Amino acid sequence: MDPTQLAAWVGDARERSLALVADLAGDQLIGPRLTVVNPLLWEIGHVAWFQEKWALREGLGHSPLRADGDLLWDSSAVAHETRWDLPLPSLADTKAYMRDVRERVVQRLSGGDVTTSLLYLILYTVFHEDMHDEAFTYTRQTLGYPGSPPVDAALAANDDGGPLAGDAAVPGGTFQLGSSPEEPFVFDNEKWAHPVHLAPYAIARAPVTQREFEAFVDDGGYLRRELWSQSGWAWRTAAGAGEPVYWRRAEGSWQRRDFYRWVPLEPHRPVIHVNWYEAEAYCAWAGRRLPTEAEWEAAASSEPASSGAGESDHKRRFPWGDHLPTPERANLDARRGGCVDVGALAAGDSAFGCRQMTGNVWEWVADDFLPYPGFVPDMYRDYSQPWFGTHKVLRGGCWATRSRLLRNTWRNFYPPDRRDVWAGFRTCPL
Ligand SMILES: [Fe+2]
Repeated sequence: MDPTQLAAWVGDARERSLALVADLAGDQLIGPRLTVVNPLLWEIGHVAWFQEKWALREGLGHSPLRADGDLLWDSSAVAHETRWDLPLPSLADTKAYMRDVRERVVQRLSGGDVTTSLLYLILYTVFHEDMHDEAFTYTRQTLGYPGSPPVDAALAANDDGGPLAGDAAVPGGTFQLGSSPEEPFVFDNEKWAHPVHLAPYAIARAPVTQREFEAFVDDGGYLRRELWSQSGWAWRTAAGAGEPVYWRRAEGSWQRRDFYRWVPLEPHRPVIHVNWYEAEAYCAWAGRRLPTEAEWEAAASSEPASSGAGESDHKRRFPWGDHLPTPERANLDARRGGCVDVGALAAGDSAFGCRQMTGNVWEWVADDFLPYPGFVPDMYRDYSQPWFGTHKVLRGGCWATRSRLLRNTWRNFYPPDRRDVWAGFRTCPL
């Protein structure tokens, strides 16, 4: 990693954090006590504290910048439900702290002689901030605030890709699931590639659309016990769910809440804000199933063998190949301010013809989030380990995910009842 590039990323991530709260004030920065969001004023301080802790204190041996930093912003020590009661600094003081940390890190990166371990620590803090920045966008949706403005307004208007029907056939065989040690940076949960056997299978070329999901809702899908697993039905009845969380019926048709305004369904955009149980019930209704994690990753990253039989040994970093994402290939980086139609961005197709496996909407897969063989936690021990066994895996990234974070092997994870995140799914035939 080039220190100059990393310094630019440190600055860019901090600017994005600040931009996502720039139009908010007073109570909006604290918000209601919910298990799925943090007070935004706390969360922006937390990203800077994380960088101070790992880059400046652990990496460089600096003393704490604030005597109260660990008491306020250490997410491992400060219980979620207490974060609304903390004596948080003012917005102005929080911003000053955020800028102070950023300046010290950037200054160190431009000072020459930066060790590999320091580069790793700083990069880790950038990616941590990127993940929180995505959380800021779904927090704004959860709380009904205005959407984050598209980073590129010209792209935002260009989403008319239409639907994309059909399944892609994948030959199967022995597949190396996970990251290889040549990858410059990986999180602990991706380590390391290990062989899994896949029988030949097919997988939808596109995620399930709003129109497709509407047919499930209108067919009484939420009320038919036989479509739901036992735990799914327990969730559904406890939540009183009869449709996706941000849908409502108005004047005879469904509408969707897009941040603070209601809009008609966008028929060919992916269904979003559905949880794992809703995805599972839809599959039962449609006579299909969720892909396994290995099937999803193989569909995104494997290529047909040149002999014409089976798959080659080459594993692509992204669905389209090894080049980094561009706006023509993937809807990322909040450039568009929301999702595009599932038929858009054909240039990003995988070798077997699956579209938008990177970007647009996170995709639930069938599997529990579990460690790969030989798992060892990274220095930030709470990144993956506490969540094994209770969370489900999501793949691919969404419109708000930063492109620098992603590759085909990237694993996201949430509990199966989370409906507030930018999640949809694609299906496989039985
Ligand atoms: Fe965090």
